[in-house]
Amino acid sequence: MNNQVYIFDTTLRDGEQSPGVSLNLNEKLQIARQLARLGVDIIEAGFPITSPGDFAAVQAVAKEVRGVTVAGLARANFKDIDRAWEALKDAEQARIHTFIATSDIHLKYKLRKDREQVIEAAVAAVKHAKKYTSDVEFSAEDASRSDQNYLCRIFGEVIKAGATVINIPDTVGYTTPEEYAKFIRYIIENTPGMDKITVSVHCHDDLGLAVANSLAAVGAGARQVEGAINGIGERAGNAALEEVIMGLHTRKDHYGLITGINTQEIYRTSRLVSSLTGMPVQPNKSVVGKNAFAHESGIHQDGVLKERTTYEIMNPEQVGIIANNLVLGKHSGRHAFKDRLAELGYSLNEEELNLAFSRFKVLADKKKEIADQDLQAIVEDEIKHIPDTYVLEYLHISTGTSVVPTATLGLRCGEELKEEAACGDGPVDAIYKTVDKITGLSCVLVNYALNAITGGKDALGDVTVKLRCGENEKIYTGRGISTDILEASAKAYVNAVNKLIYDMK
Ligand code: KIV
Ligand code: ZN
Repeated sequence: MNNQVYIFDTTLRDGEQSPGVSLNLNEKLQIARQLARLGVDIIEAGFPITSPGDFAAVQAVAKEVRGVTVAGLARANFKDIDRAWEALKDAEQARIHTFIATSDIHLKYKLRKDREQVIEAAVAAVKHAKKYTSDVEFSAEDASRSDQNYLCRIFGEVIKAGATVINIPDTVGYTTPEEYAKFIRYIIENTPGMDKITVSVHCHDDLGLAVANSLAAVGAGARQVEGAINGIGERAGNAALEEVIMGLHTRKDHYGLITGINTQEIYRTSRLVSSLTGMPVQPNKSVVGKNAFAHESGIHQDGVLKERTTYEIMNPEQVGIIANNLVLGKHSGRHAFKDRLAELGYSLNEEELNLAFSRFKVLADKKKEIADQDLQAIVEDEIKHIPDTYVLEYLHISTGTSVVPTATLGLRCGEELKEEAACGDGPVDAIYKTVDKITGLSCVLVNYALNAITGGKDALGDVTVKLRCGENEKIYTGRGISTDILEASAKAYVNAVNKLIYDMK
């Protein structure tokens, strides 16, 4: 049996179905490029029939990203499949991923079809997809709650029709590792043609078992794992791919399997996804959380100092967390700055480098020691991939315990400096009301989060906001960074508004 596990990333499709997450085309492209650097085998870039935005994103990823298979999702009907192919056709390697539910509960209440009708639809869909590409994945939605003998029948039929990957999802996160392993094994042993295709699993995390279930399925013979970076996704999310990957990697002695992943890109990928989706990574999150490699207890610290492996089963460098933390300061030159960014994996063009370097100099005047995290924040904040219609020029706040908070703001819009003032319930509210006055747009602030990038009083404040805007109530995420948290708050809001304006165009 093949000893490689293929990694199928659905951050841009199932991951983007996380409540409150909405990525624009440029953000999806940035994530897709990083996923390709990480070395995933398949990027599921979206569900093309669902919206013009999803279609455009799948098309852009298919046209640009190389060295990886690009998949598009389609229900088991010709219209969805035609649309998916239209978006995918320029990919170096394209996969149509078609699905239909198979559990009795879905058949009865959702599809209102009987089992034979579902087999017919699935076979017709696979045959239709096969006219476009040789690489066709079939998923039985809610498989873990479906009758296993029925699954063997439908899988046998779609394999005959040409499916090359059979996905057996735990759509509602219901199964357990032992049960799922047995289920997968039974299906593999009782479905004709299973030896010619790749068996895939796709687990949701409703009971916190998505990664455990995925690894149990791999132990039972699955060779493709689907999941999302940081475990984002519908409801409680998908299997966190970084955990699946490091599980296989760290316990190679147990699984005896490999992946094509460059693990040193894991941390950067996690940060990028967190920053663009506005979904923070909890500090105690396995593999990529802030505390994942921190040793607090004296006994543990003592052990690690004597011999790292006493308490560490992985080391931070393996996942791309850089140990060297205090790097640059006020006297560091452009050359050192550029070199350090290169070491952190950023390659900026001349204009981007100039922008980032002047930002670094301003920060170095305020902060004695600039850590790698500061550099990463500067680059992520400065290198925007959409045009900034509005740029914060200045900000003046009057606030206190016995005054009405008032903000006066200047936003540059092309050549013009637009100025306004407004009062609010607090200084941040006053700033946001002033921005609304200037732009003439009105959005609902649904989430505001403030974090310190490093420790210390002079730490950079990192603000992420989520705005609900427009008739379709789409969510826009904005991020702003500054040593002044009110400035960071203003920048985050303006960043989200710029994304809305870009979308409206
Ligand atoms: O959870 C699920 O079943 C899915 C399918 C479309 C694969 O996301
Ligand atoms: Zn799913």
